[in-house]
Amino acid sequence: MRKAAMTVVLIGAVALLGACNKSGSSTDTSASSSSPAGAAPSSGPTPEQAKAILATLPAPYNTADIENGQAKFAVCSSCHTLTAGGSDMTGPNLHGVLTRKGGTETGYSYSDAMKTAAPAWDAPTLDKWIENPRGMIPGTKMSYIGMHDPKDRIDLVAYLAVATATPK
Ligand code: HEC
Repeated sequence: MRKAAMTVVLIGAVALLGACNKSGSSTDTSASSSSPAGAAPSSGPTPEQAKAILATLPAPYNTADIENGQAKFAVCSSCHTLTAGGSDMTGPNLHGVLTRKGGTETGYSYSDAMKTAAPAWDAPTLDKWIENPRGMIPGTKMSYIGMHDPKDRIDLVAYLAVATATPK
């Protein structure tokens, strides 16, 4: 129950962010400057937080289309959850993935190949992984074949950064 509610909140935040980005302004001073005290949900980023997280990413991820990224995540969602405390499925829960090294989620049984490679999951590294997991880490047990469209990967990486962050 609670997880479903959190997902809805997150999708709402991300949808709003997408709407913001479509307005095309890169310098905003007035558009989304404040949120009323107490309005922030207890989990998942608000649209302001999502925007701030996006801005911390290197180009081109910082201007990516989060809504498209969310749509592209559908192919990953049969094996991965994103929210804090989400369960491990075939693949590990990805909450906080951009702040950890590969193969270090406690309680998940990784391949030896992943534990040995232990990549630092920053945006470009995730991009490379999503393009061709077994090309990047031969012997990984992630059986996903790879995503070929570079723009879809950029959008997906940016969505992952926002959706797996712990809002401050
Ligand atoms: C068929 C199931 C499956 C699908 C689909 C899948 N994954 Fe995975 N994923 C795994 C498994 C299994 C691992 C563990 C790999 C290992 O230990 O070698 C993994 C590992 C990862 C990791 C490393 C996590 C860590 O803690 O180091 C990331 C990041 C990741 N997947 C992202 C994605 C993304 C993004 C997609 C969609 C494009 C995706 N995965 C699709 C099964 C899957």
